Amino acid sequence: MDIKNKRIWVTGASSGIGEAVAKELAAQGANLILSARNEAQLEALRASLPNAESHIVVAIDLSKSEDIADIVAPVLKDIGRLDVLVNNGGISQRGLARDTLLDVQRQVMEVNYFGTVAMTQAVLPSMLENGGGMIVTVSSVAGKVGGQSMSGYSASKHAILGYMNCLRAEEALNGIKVLNICPGFVQTNISVNAMLADGQQYGKVAGSIANGIDVQTCAVKMVNAIRQEKDEVVIGKGISYWAPTIYRFFPGLFRRLSSSKNFRE
Ligand SMILES: NC(=O)c1ccc[n+]([C@@H]2O[C@H](COP(=O)([O-])OP(=O)(O)OC[C@H]3O[C@@H](n4cnc5c(N)ncnc54)[C@H](OP(=O)(O)O)[C@@H]3O)[C@@H](O)[C@H]2O)c1
Repeated sequence: MDIKNKRIWVTGASSGIGEAVAKELAAQGANLILSARNEAQLEALRASLPNAESHIVVAIDLSKSEDIADIVAPVLKDIGRLDVLVNNGGISQRGLARDTLLDVQRQVMEVNYFGTVAMTQAVLPSMLENGGGMIVTVSSVAGKVGGQSMSGYSASKHAILGYMNCLRAEEALNGIKVLNICPGFVQTNISVNAMLADGQQYGKVAGSIANGIDVQTCAVKMVNAIRQEKDEVVIGKGISYWAPTIYRFFPGLFRRLSSSKNFRE
């Protein structure tokens, strides 16, 4: 796919991976719809992009999935055609499964799973009417394997991969492409904004995230995957890149490694 002049909706565009992807897509000539909750940050990003006037800011709270269709419908009416949706907005969670409040598990699922499903279902009919489109979703390596201290996050990322793989199977013959992105650790504020077992903010950059790949490298690889119309890509380095491959071919070894003290942060 040639990115130039494509209409692309990016959620979670106010920070981290979404912001970097938006910059990369705009540099390649896309016309963007930028969404997240922080409208001021989205507006500052829009104003800084090439062809600023061709991009739109639309505030969306993914935790309020019941509102999403009503927010998306008038935008689609205005723009006429959406080529790509990048489902990137999300939150993380840190804490042992045995300690993590059910409400925290539910909040992670509301944003990462139901919010993403609601966004997808809000744009899909219009893509089908227009003969096709691409749904890109930022899951995680944590959506491919289980590790310690992230049961809610990992469950939400496994769940969204399951949904998207079914959607691909159902809509492939109708021109809908489904690309799942599974990053390992990427240097963003994801852990700063993560919820602890009791719902409080973690509030700092975790060591694993600080040692991850830089966000620009991640964004370039994501945009390449969109251009190449791939089905799924893992992006990262070190153990967070190799984990799905180790799990696939050596599941017993992976389970021993992931249960060891070295993998509890
Ligand atoms: N960084 C990593 O190591 C890593 C690895 C694998 C996958 N990921 C995934 O990558 C995606 C982006 O995360 P990031 O690393 O860039 O972290 P980030 O810097 O914290 O960005 C998260 C983005 O999601 C948005 N968001 C959070 N809650 C939202 C809500 N209720 N409604 C709408 N938007 C919401 C935030 O915007 P507002 O606060 O303005 O709403 C922000 O734009 C997430 O899905 C994350 O799970 C990250």
